[in-house]
Order: sequence, then C-alpha cells, then structure tokens
Amino acid sequence: MNFELTALPVADLSSDVEIIIVVDKDTKHRFVQDKKLLKKAGFEAGQDETCLLLEKNRLYVGAESLTSSSIRPAAASAIKALQGTQYRSIKVATYTNKGCTYTLRAMIEGFILGAYSFQTYKSKKKKNPVKHITVSLEEYSELEIDIEKASEAIHKAQITADATNFTRDIVNTTPDDCYPEVLAGIAEGMADDTGLVCNVLKPKELRKEKMETLLAVARASRHAPRVIHLTHKPKNPKCVVTLVGKGLTYDSGGLSLKPADFMVTMKADKSGGSAVIGVMKAIAEMDLPVEVHGFIGAVENMIGGDAYKPDDVLVAKNGKTIEVRNTDAEGRLVLADTLCYAQQEVKADYLFDLATLTGACVVGVGNYTSGVMSNSEELRSLVVKEAKNAGELATGLDFNRYLKKTLKSEVADICNISNTRYGGAITAGQFLSEFIDEDHADKWAHIDIAGPAFVEHAWGENPSGASGAGVRMMVKFIETLAEDESHQ
Ligand code: BES
Ligand code: ZN
Ligand code: ZN
Repeated sequence: MNFELTALPVADLSSDVEIIIVVDKDTKHRFVQDKKLLKKAGFEAGQDETCLLLEKNRLYVGAESLTSSSIRPAAASAIKALQGTQYRSIKVATYTNKGCTYTLRAMIEGFILGAYSFQTYKSKKKKNPVKHITVSLEEYSELEIDIEKASEAIHKAQITADATNFTRDIVNTTPDDCYPEVLAGIAEGMADDTGLVCNVLKPKELRKEKMETLLAVARASRHAPRVIHLTHKPKNPKCVVTLVGKGLTYDSGGLSLKPADFMVTMKADKSGGSAVIGVMKAIAEMDLPVEVHGFIGAVENMIGGDAYKPDDVLVAKNGKTIEVRNTDAEGRLVLADTLCYAQQEVKADYLFDLATLTGACVVGVGNYTSGVMSNSEELRSLVVKEAKNAGELATGLDFNRYLKKTLKSEVADICNISNTRYGGAITAGQFLSEFIDEDHADKWAHIDIAGPAFVEHAWGENPSGASGAGVRMMVKFIETLAEDESHQ
C-alpha cells in the first residue's frame, strides 16, 4: 500500500473510491453530501460503522470523535469494508483536531493496520485490494494544514504500522516454523535491512555469561536458546533506552504442563520479544536520535527427560538463587537472566521489559489492556500516557510490600511463584524487580502484554490473532524522548 499527499482538493482527484469519515452525523458539512441515501441505507455513523455507496464510489465510516483513538479504528474498519471489492485506489481528505496532525497519523496507521491479515498458512490467499491511497490536504473543518507536517505524520504512521504488522507476522508464525534460532535469524535479517547491529548469543556464550536460569528453561527443547541483542546507535544520542522482550517461541508449561485449552495460542508467548524486534525496526527507520538497545530472550519451554523441574534451585546471572515451584512460570526466569545481561551490557536511562507474563494480568484488566508496573510512579504514568497516545490500552498496577513477601522461599533466595493465587500479575512484576540493579531501579518499567498481544477475534484496528501490542507504545515513548529538549 503506498501513499501520496497532494494539495489538490478531494473533488479534483481521480481514484476508484473515496473514503469519508463522518464524525458528527448531524453536520451540514459538505463531505456529507449523500445524507438522504445514507439515511435510506440505515447508516447511523456509529463508531466503525461503514456504508458503501457503490454507485457513487463513496465509502462512509463513522467515528465517535476527532481523536486518534476513534479515527484509527474507523480507518481500519473502512479499509476492511473494501475487502473483496475491486477498488484499488482510494482518495481521502485530511482530518485533524484543530490542525494537529496526530489524527492524520492515526488515520494512516488505521488503514495499514486494518488491511493486515495473516495468510501465510492459507492455500488461497486473500489480499486487501487497495494499493494506492491519495491523501488530500483539504481538511475536514477547512483548516490550512502544513504540508511538511502532514507528510511527516504520514511517513511516521507508515513506519509504525509496518513495524506493528512485522511483529504480528512473527507472533502468528507457528512454533514449528519460528523457534529461537529462526527468531534470531529474523532479527538479523531486519538488522541487515535497516542498518542496525545484531549480536546473537548461542548456548556456549550463554553458559559463559552464567545465564543458568534461561538455559534451564530451554533444556528440554530440541531447539537451543538464543539471546538477541539489537543496537541502534546514532551520533550524539539524547539518551539511552533498553528494551527487553520475553521470546518464548512456545510455552507448553514444561513439566507443570498446561491443560490442553490453555496451551493453544502459546505460540504467542514470543510477543514481547517480537515487539522489541518491531520497535527496533521502526526506530532505525525513523533514525531517531536516541540510543536504543533491544534484548530478546528466545527460548522454547518443553517437557522431556532433560526438563528442569519443580523443586530445582537455579542460580540466576546476578547470583540470586531461585526455587522452582512451577515450570510454567518460566517467562520470569528467562527475563531474570536477560534483564541482568542487558544491564551489564548497557547503562540505560530507561529500561523496559515487554512480556506475555501472566494469565493473572488478563484476568485483572481484561484482554485488551496491558498492565504497567514500576518502582517509579512517574515513569509508570508516562508509559501509560504514551501507550494511550499511540492507540494502545494500558493501566498501572501497584507493587506492594505484602505481595512481595509471598515470593519468599524456605530453601532459596526467592521462589518463582507466589504462595497466594491472587495478584499474580503484580507478584510476577515484583519477582522481576529482584533482578533490576540499584542503578536502574527507578528507570525500569515492566509491561505485561499477556492480554492484548494475542486475541482470537478482531478488535478495533487489530485483527484476530497477534496485535503487535507494545510496538506503538514504545515507538511513541522513544519518539517523545527524541523530541524532548530537556534530554541533551
Ligand atoms: N505465558 C504464560 C502467561 C500467559 C497466559 C500469557 C495466558 C498469555 C495468555 C506464562 O508463562 C504462565 O504460564 N504464567 C503462569 C504463571 C503461574 C504458574 C504463576 C500463569 O499465568 O498461569
Ligand atoms: Zn508459562
Ligand atoms: Zn510463558
């Protein structure tokens, strides 16, 4: 799908079909020129509601308000409504909220995100027919829009949405086709294409680095683990960001085997790591003046004679001992070592980890929302804010000293599960906090994306399956750092 920006008014453009977003249905606005027909068709301009007037070659779509979070899914819904048609080119006006181009960016993201569908394993592939979109600078409320700003908004939208779709493809790939070695290969290929540096640690190096907890989780798999390190290092960076991703290419639960119904979709347990790869791609393509490091712990959690066991005591890279009581709480073990390694390699101003860490987070906040945890309330609310600005749902969860105590072990320094069935998202986050060094204590936030990373139905601008959760929020966060004058 390619985009073209023009100063010509929409009426002067020749395209197969025009998309018209209706924000306020009672408007006398000239875009709503088909009021009678629309009424006849029963179109009420509800959020994401579409109406295709075939003979006019116009597609109407409703949006609740002129905000990014309404425009993005509306644009996605519009592009989806063209699935199966023969419309190849679209024209569309610019929609802004008082001239601010965020909504323009959201619309473009919506088109690209909405056009995505995962077809790799279908013998007959359905592709979205739309190839070309012409965006007119003609603005919804007749404001003058700066062409440079509009062009940048479109450019950034394309990079962000393409990176999100790239992540979706990785996550949707089956565990038999995407195991740690393959995931590392994908990261290397992406690095080659974008000019990033990629260093991959194999078992020999992992042993040398004393990443014994990660190696223990990986032991029963026929696929050896990898730790992937991607680097974006611009000249004179404003600050340094480290991203760490959980890359469980499959989570069977290990010997604490998951029940059959819970095992399905566990190919998506690599969503955090895949999001990190997507973010790195976008940051490289935008060439942001921030140094960004991405670390991915890529492991498969399986069963077998060689499997690590409940009752084992593991020694993490930072020397802390961990009593294993449940091999299905493997993500935190992989992250513990990967976080230690990341902090050893890079002294960062911001340290984030992204992980499909707990079912408890999904129970607590629902399928569509990520849980954000941090020792710093300020950093936590900043992440939540940028997530929302980027079109992702996120909410803060509080650590507390009472839940921390539930991780106590009689035989080791800490236990890999809590002794209570409640508050599982938070106890997992507090487990990770044990592997954050003093220097990074207030610079770290943990983002549990277990809910939104993979949902088996379409929602908003997201398809059924992988959503690419975490990509847009992190890209936005880093973009904000790049723009911030106080970081010099
Ligand atoms: N990968 C799962 C968490 C998960 C569950 C992600 C559902 C996405 C959807 C994780 O490794 C896990 O199994 N966690 C356990 C922890 C428990 C054993 C303390 C869980 O959430 O049940
Ligand atoms: Zn698990
Ligand atoms: Zn897992």
